[in-house]
Amino acid sequence: MRTKFIKVLGQDNQCLNNLNIDGKDIIRGLNQVPKTLPSKYFYDDIGSEIFQKICELPEYYPTRTETSILRQCADEVAQITGACELVELGSGSSTKTQFLLNAYQKISDKCKYIPIDVSGGIIKTSILNLQKKYPDLLIEGLIGSYEQALAILESVIVPSRMIFFLGSSIGNFTAQECNSFLRRIAHTLKPSDYFLIGIDLQKDIKILEAAYNDSKSITAAFNLNILSHLNWRFQSNFNLNLFRHEAIYNQANNQIEMYLHCLETHRVSLDTLNLNVFFEAGESILTEISRKFDLTILQNELELQGLKTLKIWTDKNRWYGVILCQAVELK
Ligand code: AVI
Repeated sequence: MRTKFIKVLGQDNQCLNNLNIDGKDIIRGLNQVPKTLPSKYFYDDIGSEIFQKICELPEYYPTRTETSILRQCADEVAQITGACELVELGSGSSTKTQFLLNAYQKISDKCKYIPIDVSGGIIKTSILNLQKKYPDLLIEGLIGSYEQALAILESVIVPSRMIFFLGSSIGNFTAQECNSFLRRIAHTLKPSDYFLIGIDLQKDIKILEAAYNDSKSITAAFNLNILSHLNWRFQSNFNLNLFRHEAIYNQANNQIEMYLHCLETHRVSLDTLNLNVFFEAGESILTEISRKFDLTILQNELELQGLKTLKIWTDKNRWYGVILCQAVELK
């Protein structure tokens, strides 16, 4: 059996504990007009569990569509890149990753997989499961933020590496954050290394809004859980019954926007942040954006950052895309 280990890149291994959680971003967001909350606060342990349920919803097409694309393209991806170190950002349960792991095991018996996630719980469970299924695979889990993990990877040069970022998580970044993230990826890779990314594409507004306003209200529970998370983390007294979830598609910006609408005028205190917030009936908190991409535009943005597209796979409806890029030296 090969060695497997987990490196914790911060103080301890609870969700978000390795991220910057001094709450300054909460203070900033709740003092803004309109109010916002950073979407990283969705993912405490309960939020991560609710997110797993979202991925199984019939209306939430991204997970199953990406899974079906990966099932089909994994062998080809491995053929194109050849044996390489596999690094997954935001690996979660690593379920979809198994198509890639199967494909790489076919071409090499010296594969190494580095799952990276902020949730220590999820990473440990998924490594235990993967160990049973792939006894010969070398696995090195990193618990921490992307920034922390990329800094470590950058310092370790390997013959060939592929970083992958699935689930269209890049859609939760603003355009500016997206560009600096891609630049960071390109900087971490050396020329000829690879980057594989899953992205949700622009489509009919009805399909998009249904995916984020599901009939079982699981997404509503996910959105409201951000307030429960703040309640335990910052000793606050948000009453979840005084807020209502809604997701709308902003066509001008090609993005889903998730809101919590305040139903009654009231005050909330966040004790450990020494913050009192006044909410007026009818006002809203923006909790998440989920950008939907145009393949050609994103390809250009990738290229500008030094990530040249080698191949794109989509489903038959062109709802979702998986792009394989190669890092090139920028002139
Ligand atoms: C994690 N991320 C890609 C999801 C998305 O679709 O933007 C988060 C999510 N929010 C509501 N449903 C799913």
